[in-house]
Amino acid sequence: MPRGVFITLEGLDGSGKTTQIKRLAAWLTRRGQQPILLRQPGGTAIGDRIREILLDSRSRSLDPMTEMALMFGDRAQAIAEVIQPALDAGKVVVCDRFTDSTEAYQGGGRRLGSEVVLELHRQLCRGLQPDLTLLLLPGFAVSLARARNRNQRAEAETGRDENRFETERDAFYRRVWEKYREIAAREPERVVLIEGDLSIDEVHEQIIESVSERILSLAQGR
Ligand code: TMP
Repeated sequence: MPRGVFITLEGLDGSGKTTQIKRLAAWLTRRGQQPILLRQPGGTAIGDRIREILLDSRSRSLDPMTEMALMFGDRAQAIAEVIQPALDAGKVVVCDRFTDSTEAYQGGGRRLGSEVVLELHRQLCRGLQPDLTLLLLPGFAVSLARARNRNQRAEAETGRDENRFETERDAFYRRVWEKYREIAAREPERVVLIEGDLSIDEVHEQIIESVSERILSLAQGR
């Protein structure tokens, strides 16, 4: 059985990943795929419990190393329980955030550096790499404003407090944003950078273009 296709979406909070994942999933479904969708942190019963600890504002005393370890705990569980079995079964997996988020937020934002993140990835995720990463990264000022807006709205609508990351300062988000750009420059084969202040339709079109190329070339390579 050929390995499936592993696609991840990345970006700052409020970058429109959720909307784009829904549209990508609909597009894949129309083409006869039944994509497996998940998000990180979360996506498994254990991961959802880890997510609560990670995102709750009451976890204020969480040490950055603990935070990083929990992100990887969540990810290892998702790989074992959902991602690897789905890829082994030849499916398309679309994941909202993966190790690039840990590199950007913990490595960049929390200043733990890339090296420890990449090493943990090798050990705990057995080096599993996405076939394609779509990085939604408008300019910094737009990204920051969207992140702040989105989180105020989300709490008002759901009553759920997932604000711990959003109370971070601008400098934190600046480091996250810069680390994302660094990853894109380092791995241009895997990471497609979708930048600029584009409409939802324009971003969707760019995503479809990259996904079509990738799925086609993977299918031909097998
Ligand atoms: P989201 O589900 O709304 O994208 O929010 C998840 C938050 O967790 C977001 O602020 C980014 C953060 N995060 C990390 O800091 N490191 C990680 O490895 C992951 C997956 C998420």
